Amino acid sequence: MAKRIDVADLNAYYGPTRAIEGISMTIEPRTVTAFIGPSGCGKSTFLRTLNRMHEVIPGARVEGKVTLDDVDLYGAGVDPVAVRRSIGMVFQRPNPFPTMSIYENVAAGLRLAGVKKKSELDDVVESSLKGANLWKEVENRLKKPGSGLSGGQQQRLCIARAIAVSPDVLLMDEPCSALDPISTTAIEDLISQLKSEYTIVIVTHNMQQAARVSDRTAFFNISGTGTPGRLIEIDDTSRIFANPTEKATEDYITGRFG
Ligand SMILES: Nc1ncnc2c1ncn2[C@@H]1O[C@H](COP(=O)(O)OP(=O)(O)OP(=O)(O)O)[C@@H](O)[C@H]1O
Ligand SMILES: [Mg+2]
Repeated sequence: MAKRIDVADLNAYYGPTRAIEGISMTIEPRTVTAFIGPSGCGKSTFLRTLNRMHEVIPGARVEGKVTLDDVDLYGAGVDPVAVRRSIGMVFQRPNPFPTMSIYENVAAGLRLAGVKKKSELDDVVESSLKGANLWKEVENRLKKPGSGLSGGQQQRLCIARAIAVSPDVLLMDEPCSALDPISTTAIEDLISQLKSEYTIVIVTHNMQQAARVSDRTAFFNISGTGTPGRLIEIDDTSRIFANPTEKATEDYITGRFG
């Protein structure tokens, strides 16, 4: 649980195009790190390189190194499926499996991993839904379709699904951008609770959200269309928002960008 991520000199490509360049950073366990920066600077791309989801896109590849504690995630013999199990992902649009019940949505990953015992599945479904702050709202409708939940509930269901397989890291790509303010608050509260057990990375366009939920903030930027995105700086969130080192960061967070 809750491992450290070390990234060294990472580049990611789509075909011949370099989308991100020279990214190095350390993400400490049991912290929340926010990724901010203008659209197209490569936040989602970088996030996907952290759990080997980038390479599933045809023609996409990665250079550089990502280590989880002391395991080189791109090392020979490392199974990308196992990497994705230990580094879970939550997407912008809640994407529960539409034909599956609430229960089956949470149990799906465990079933894939070969767990068959009903009592074990029941226990993990309950603890994951409790962990995602959804249990009270769904305990009497576990057999109903996940698609029947509200958007905010669906996003918490996706978080429950992600934590059911006991990941070490949770990556969230704009998890609140499709949600109303009340659901957003619920997810933000949940993130604050989950950080005692997980390493969390969240991409957000919402500066207030980055300031509220994260311990560290990484600012990414592009110098022009067609150029690769770069990490401009990463620091304690309080420092990034009060006194960033780079002028580009200050311009972005004060809305003077572009
Ligand atoms: N599947 C893809 N194939 C080719 N190019 C892609 C693909 N996905 C992203 N890109 C390109 O890579 C660059 C970075 O995109 P990315 O989605 O990572 O940016 P982002 O910072 O997440 O933007 P946003 O804030 O809009 O989500 C962009 O130029 C984008 O067009
Ligand atoms: Mg994105």
